Amino acid sequence: MLRRDFLHRFERAALGACALGARTSLPLIVGGCASLRYVQGDLRDGGLHVALDQLSPDGTALVEVPGMDLPLFVRRTGVGAVIVLSTRCMHRGCQVEPESDRFVCPCHGSEYALDGAILRGPTQRPLERFRVTETANSLVIHLASGTRP
Ligand code: FES
Repeated sequence: MLRRDFLHRFERAALGACALGARTSLPLIVGGCASLRYVQGDLRDGGLHVALDQLSPDGTALVEVPGMDLPLFVRRTGVGAVIVLSTRCMHRGCQVEPESDRFVCPCHGSEYALDGAILRGPTQRPLERFRVTETANSLVIHLASGTRP
């Protein structure tokens, strides 16, 4: 799926479910009608930096990574409580779609929990997860730390 198709698909879904919701960027459905922003990460000093004020009010974002074809999903629920996952399905590589309480792969139906754990196959592996540290104003995603089970 092309990135443009992905964005349009989620924009339509968000508009359908949250027709009157505020639109700060490209809204997606995560955690009800909260908006999920699509942001650019800043790659420097061995990490991908994402300013905290780039995240949606509910702490989520899809982060575009220079050199990667699929974005990362970021969810921050509090100080130091951050999860960063690849949106690449571990079955055959399609981009998973965030829904209210899970990720769903449009290709063959695999489902993952918001922590990347497998809820439903055919995938045999959880989503790749990245280590992240937090500074006063930003998150630093350590791309080399991705876990590929
Ligand atoms: Fe995701 Fe097959 S590529 S279920």
